[in-house]
Amino acid sequence: MKLVIAGDHSSIDLKQALKEHLEARGHEVTDLGAHTTQSTDYPVWGRLAGEAVVRGDAELGIVICGTGVGISIAANKVRGVRAACVSEPFSAQMSRRHNDANVLALGARVVGVDLAKMIVDSWLDAEFEAGGRHSHRVGLITEIDEEYRAH
Ligand code: RB5
Repeated sequence: MKLVIAGDHSSIDLKQALKEHLEARGHEVTDLGAHTTQSTDYPVWGRLAGEAVVRGDAELGIVICGTGVGISIAANKVRGVRAACVSEPFSAQMSRRHNDANVLALGARVVGVDLAKMIVDSWLDAEFEAGGRHSHRVGLITEIDEEYRAH
């Protein structure tokens, strides 16, 4: 699968570890940055990864900041992004199955590398349960996106 990964200065080590892990699993991973530990603004990276996903450059995106919170908020402002900020595998899996999350947000200061790998694997191994109530609910999210975009 084609993936993009991006994050702020706090993400560098975890981002690289996840990229290597995902490539070892056969995924094609594009690292959009940041590439140094110099302080940088997480919304820039959340936006960049979100835009790459909705443009179709990648199927899914992974974004990382210190907590995962700020960058998930930023990514979710990109129309069509459904970013889930999680810190354990169960929510990661459910965010795919029920919410069709197309971006996963992680906190580099929250989760260790091994837990992050488990989270990412759970997320990628799960599939959206399309049809029925979950499609309806995701459709309602899309409606909010479209209605507020019009203002
Ligand atoms: C940067 O210090 C920090 O605020 C950022 O990585 C993130 O945690 C924001 O939500």
